Amino acid sequence: MLAAMTALAREARERAHTPYSRFKVGAALKTRTGEIVTGCNIENASYGLTMCAERVAVFKAVSEGLSDFDVITVVADSKRLTAPCGPCRQILWEFCGDLLVHMSNTKGASRTLRLRELLPLPFDGRNL
Ligand code: THU
Repeated sequence: MLAAMTALAREARERAHTPYSRFKVGAALKTRTGEIVTGCNIENASYGLTMCAERVAVFKAVSEGLSDFDVITVVADSKRLTAPCGPCRQILWEFCGDLLVHMSNTKGASRTLRLRELLPLPFDGRNL
Protein backbone atom coordinates (compact mmCIF):
# COMPACT_ATOMS: atom_id res chain seq x y z
CA MET A 1 0.00 0.00 0.00
CA LEU A 2 2.80 2.47 0.85
CA ALA A 3 4.50 1.65 -2.44
CA ALA A 4 1.30 2.25 -4.43
CA MET A 5 0.66 5.52 -2.60
CA THR A 6 4.25 6.64 -3.15
CA ALA A 7 3.89 5.95 -6.87
CA LEU A 8 0.75 8.13 -6.97
CA ALA A 9 2.52 10.87 -5.01
CA ARG A 10 5.39 10.77 -7.50
CA GLU A 11 2.96 11.20 -10.38
CA ALA A 12 1.27 14.11 -8.60
CA ARG A 13 4.68 15.65 -7.97
CA GLU A 14 5.20 15.94 -11.71
CA ARG A 15 2.20 18.28 -11.80
CA ALA A 16 3.67 20.67 -9.19
CA HIS A 17 3.59 24.34 -10.19
CA THR A 18 6.97 25.55 -8.92
CA PRO A 19 8.41 28.30 -11.15
CA TYR A 20 9.89 30.08 -8.11
CA SER A 21 11.48 27.41 -5.90
CA ARG A 22 11.76 24.63 -8.51
CA PHE A 23 11.19 22.31 -5.53
CA LYS A 24 8.48 19.85 -6.50
CA VAL A 25 6.55 17.89 -3.86
CA GLY A 26 3.88 15.25 -4.28
CA ALA A 27 1.55 13.76 -1.69
CA ALA A 28 -1.03 10.99 -1.50
CA LEU A 29 -3.57 10.79 1.31
CA LYS A 30 -5.55 7.61 2.07
CA THR A 31 -8.79 6.95 3.90
CA ARG A 32 -9.18 3.82 6.05
CA THR A 33 -11.54 2.50 3.40
CA GLY A 34 -8.92 2.83 0.66
CA GLU A 35 -9.73 6.02 -1.27
CA ILE A 36 -6.58 7.89 -2.28
CA VAL A 37 -6.38 11.61 -3.05
CA THR A 38 -3.19 13.23 -4.33
CA GLY A 39 -1.74 16.73 -4.16
CA CYS A 40 1.21 18.73 -5.43
CA ASN A 41 2.60 22.08 -4.36
CA ILE A 42 1.22 25.09 -6.19
CA GLU A 43 3.23 28.30 -6.02
CA ASN A 44 2.25 31.88 -6.76
CA ALA A 45 4.16 35.02 -7.73
CA SER A 46 2.88 36.34 -4.42
CA TYR A 47 5.00 33.75 -2.63
CA GLY A 48 3.00 33.59 0.59
CA LEU A 49 -0.01 32.26 -1.31
CA THR A 50 1.87 29.06 -2.14
CA MET A 51 0.09 25.89 -1.09
CA CYS A 52 2.02 22.78 -0.07
CA ALA A 53 1.32 19.39 -1.60
CA GLU A 54 0.04 17.98 1.70
CA ARG A 55 -2.56 20.70 2.19
CA VAL A 56 -3.71 20.44 -1.40
CA ALA A 57 -4.33 16.72 -0.81
CA VAL A 58 -6.16 17.31 2.48
CA PHE A 59 -8.35 20.10 1.13
CA LYS A 60 -9.17 18.18 -2.04
CA ALA A 61 -10.16 15.15 0.02
CA VAL A 62 -12.22 17.06 2.57
CA SER A 63 -13.98 19.01 -0.19
CA GLU A 64 -14.95 15.69 -1.79
CA GLY A 65 -16.58 14.61 1.46
CA LEU A 66 -13.85 12.16 2.51
CA SER A 67 -12.77 11.66 6.11
CA ASP A 68 -11.10 9.11 8.38
CA PHE A 69 -7.59 9.31 6.93
CA ASP A 70 -4.85 6.96 8.06
CA VAL A 71 -1.76 7.49 5.86
CA ILE A 72 -0.11 10.29 3.91
CA THR A 73 2.90 9.81 1.68
CA VAL A 74 5.15 12.72 0.71
CA VAL A 75 7.74 12.61 -2.07
CA ALA A 76 10.39 15.16 -3.02
CA ASP A 77 13.73 15.10 -4.78
CA SER A 78 15.97 15.90 -1.83
CA LYS A 79 18.66 13.96 0.01
CA ARG A 80 17.19 15.11 3.32
CA LEU A 81 13.68 13.64 3.42
CA THR A 82 10.91 16.23 3.16
CA ALA A 83 8.67 16.24 6.21
CA PRO A 84 5.44 18.26 6.23
CA CYS A 85 6.06 21.90 7.21
CA GLY A 86 4.64 23.32 10.43
CA PRO A 87 1.35 24.66 8.99
CA CYS A 88 0.78 21.35 7.19
CA ARG A 89 1.31 19.43 10.42
CA GLN A 90 -1.39 21.54 12.05
CA ILE A 91 -3.81 21.02 9.15
CA LEU A 92 -3.08 17.29 9.07
CA TRP A 93 -3.77 17.06 12.79
CA GLU A 94 -7.09 18.83 12.41
CA PHE A 95 -8.39 16.51 9.70
CA CYS A 96 -6.42 13.30 10.13
CA GLY A 97 -5.29 13.07 13.75
CA ASP A 98 -2.36 10.81 14.44
CA LEU A 99 -1.94 9.37 10.94
CA LEU A 100 1.14 7.68 9.51
CA VAL A 101 3.43 10.05 7.61
CA HIS A 102 5.57 8.23 5.06
CA MET A 103 8.33 10.41 3.58
CA SER A 104 10.48 9.37 0.66
CA ASN A 105 12.76 10.84 -1.94
CA THR A 106 13.05 10.09 -5.62
CA LYS A 107 16.05 7.82 -4.94
CA GLY A 108 13.89 5.55 -2.79
CA ALA A 109 15.09 6.47 0.73
CA SER A 110 12.17 6.59 3.14
CA ARG A 111 11.06 7.00 6.71
CA THR A 112 7.67 6.58 8.39
CA LEU A 113 6.57 8.44 11.51
CA ARG A 114 3.33 9.14 13.32
CA LEU A 115 2.09 12.72 13.03
CA ARG A 116 2.20 12.84 16.83
CA GLU A 117 5.97 12.48 16.63
CA LEU A 118 6.15 15.48 14.29
CA LEU A 119 3.65 17.50 16.35
CA PRO A 120 4.07 16.35 19.95
CA LEU A 121 1.89 18.88 21.77
CA PRO A 122 -0.88 19.72 19.29
CA PHE A 123 -3.32 22.56 19.60
CA ASP A 124 -6.80 21.49 18.54
CA GLY A 125 -10.51 21.81 19.21
CA ARG A 126 -10.11 20.29 22.67
CA ASN A 127 -8.18 23.40 23.69
CA LEU A 128 -11.07 25.73 22.88
N1 THU B 1 6.55 22.30 0.20
C1 THU B 1 5.59 21.33 0.14
O1 THU B 1 4.79 21.28 -0.79
N2 THU B 1 5.54 20.44 1.16
C2 THU B 1 6.44 20.34 2.16
O2 THU B 1 6.34 19.45 2.99
C3 THU B 1 7.54 21.32 2.25
C4 THU B 1 7.49 22.45 1.28
C5 THU B 1 6.67 23.23 -0.93
C6 THU B 1 6.27 24.65 -0.71
C7 THU B 1 7.06 25.36 -1.79
O3 THU B 1 6.33 25.32 -3.01
C8 THU B 1 8.31 24.52 -1.96
O4 THU B 1 8.02 23.27 -1.37
C9 THU B 1 9.55 25.11 -1.33
O5 THU B 1 9.31 25.47 -0.01
